[in-house]
Amino acid sequence: MKTIIEPFKIKSVEPIRSTTVPERETILRKAFYNPFLIHADDVLIDLLTDSGTSAMSSRQWAGIMDGDESYAGSRSFFRFEKTVRELTGLRHIIPTHQGRAAEKILFSIMGGAGKFIPNNTHFDTTRANVEFTGATGVDFVTEVGKKPEVRADFKGNMDIEALEAFIKKTGPANIPLCMLTVTNNSGGGQPVSMKNIRETKAMLKRYGIPLFLDACRFAENAYFIKLREPGYEKVSVRDIAKEMFSYADGCTMSAKKDALVNIGGFLAMNDDALAVKSRNLLIVTEGFPTYGGLAGRDLEAIAQGLDEILEEDYLRYRIRSVEYLGEKFTAIGIPIVQPPGGHAIYIDAKALLPLIPQHEYPGQAVVVELYRAGGIRCVEIGSVMFGKYDPIDGRLQSPPMELVRLAIPRRVYTQSHIDYVVEATIEVFQRRNELRGLRIVAEPPALRHFTARFEEV
Ligand SMILES: Cc1ncc(COP(=O)(O)O)c(C=O)c1O
Repeated sequence: MKTIIEPFKIKSVEPIRSTTVPERETILRKAFYNPFLIHADDVLIDLLTDSGTSAMSSRQWAGIMDGDESYAGSRSFFRFEKTVRELTGLRHIIPTHQGRAAEKILFSIMGGAGKFIPNNTHFDTTRANVEFTGATGVDFVTEVGKKPEVRADFKGNMDIEALEAFIKKTGPANIPLCMLTVTNNSGGGQPVSMKNIRETKAMLKRYGIPLFLDACRFAENAYFIKLREPGYEKVSVRDIAKEMFSYADGCTMSAKKDALVNIGGFLAMNDDALAVKSRNLLIVTEGFPTYGGLAGRDLEAIAQGLDEILEEDYLRYRIRSVEYLGEKFTAIGIPIVQPPGGHAIYIDAKALLPLIPQHEYPGQAVVVELYRAGGIRCVEIGSVMFGKYDPIDGRLQSPPMELVRLAIPRRVYTQSHIDYVVEATIEVFQRRNELRGLRIVAEPPALRHFTARFEEV
């Protein structure tokens, strides 16, 4: 059979609410044209993020009922620890309430002024946690990873030569660890090849620098390796994932992605001394080491989710359904980051709306119009999210790309929901020359995309 179906039946449903175009016009005005300020009940298809938005399975819900809520030594913790240890091969498994809590602990210990943390591309919370300690986050994604229109198999790869040159220049003593984000969220959800992980590790080893994976989407990355990397066609995704982790000295994980839960995360490592320091800090900021900011039931759901995410029927459907949306967009002529990544489609708004200058936020114009046309919520990743004002002349300094991310929650929407998204996007595409840019009328000093207020130009 050629048709790839959702590999699950639906047992529990949650209604979604249609609104009319005039209603959405009022909602947009009241939300100051910022999707984060729209009430979720007013959204028909919510593609704001794939984080914490997964549908849990009946077995995960059973785990929720079965969770052991003992403060110390909970049975649920030991199930969670065993699952993560078997998957990652790492010795110390430290639960946290989400990914950034793991980052906060890791960089509070390893970061600090004068230190540099390389990555293929830092996710925004990773960079924020690195820089909060006074350290500097530096990105070394391969050149092809910066070109949205170029199709390549592993656009998340680290540029190992550039990284090595940086290590020589900076001195390994100033680089306490190196991160590798799989898949590379800020670079379009693009995967990293096994060869690249292996070679990055081998190079870092020569300088005594540990490698940590930012493992949020490790299973999607492993499936891309199976599909695209010679020699892995017949290897199980579980074994591919284990091999990926075998090159790592530690990892941070937001379980809100590839552990199919609504909250949770962990930090894991082999270094005993680092583990002692991490657990000491965990007790101050998160909780006792056998729950770390989570309930016992959450640990059960994560353990179950980590098994389910590696089912190949699921991954085939997951990667294919994102690709399906990408193919439809490409066929219509909508420019996207190619090839489609693992968890989202990224529209290239600069190419789609060449008449709207970057200081009038073409990505935000697409976000607003998709909501207006179809009640679809997505997010701008461009000048709104990363733009900074020049300290001398106050002009907006824009990032190279103006993207709009449509992130697909796991196991939540069916093909007809996606077909609806395509139909609404065609409507926006047909009206693209009438779209208006936006100006910001109020904004906070940092992470402005969450709360900034806009008006249409
Ligand atoms: C690559 C990556 N790292 C870290 C995080 C942070 O995880 P959390 O949102 O659970 O704090 C995210 C979340 O989107 C992410 O995509």
